Amino acid sequence: MNKEEILKDLNHALTTEYQAVIQYLTHATIAKGLDADVVITTLKHIAEEEMKHAEILRERIFWLGGTPTMDVDERTLVKDLKKMIQVNAKAEEDAIEMYKKILKKLNHIDDIKIYEAIEEILEDEIEHWEEFKRLEE
Ligand SMILES: [Fe+2]
Ligand SMILES: [Fe+2]
Repeated sequence: MNKEEILKDLNHALTTEYQAVIQYLTHATIAKGLDADVVITTLKHIAEEEMKHAEILRERIFWLGGTPTMDVDERTLVKDLKKMIQVNAKAEEDAIEMYKKILKKLNHIDDIKIYEAIEEILEDEIEHWEEFKRLEE
């Protein structure tokens, strides 16, 4: 994959990390109901990790000679607690697919620093998905 393509993919990934931060924190504020407490704690904790992912991506983009985007991907506002968990589990599922695709496109030797960064983020996204799935039970 050439540099321009990597930059495009990383910048798109960055918009989805910003989306997750805003969406999860907003959901954490408006979550109501019997099980709201555990959902709020989970959302806030995951949002912090998404902020770290955004930082990793900004640094890799800049390191590659690009400019980190300030765009934010489409957010979803959900008020129902059950639906909220489902929507966010799906967001994590999408993130997993996206990062897997990026990894497949990277040349392991040439892009080792980016490969490792994405691999690290992907591991977190899998954990996030599992955390939301656990709340669904
Ligand atoms: Fe993330
Ligand atoms: Fe995530």
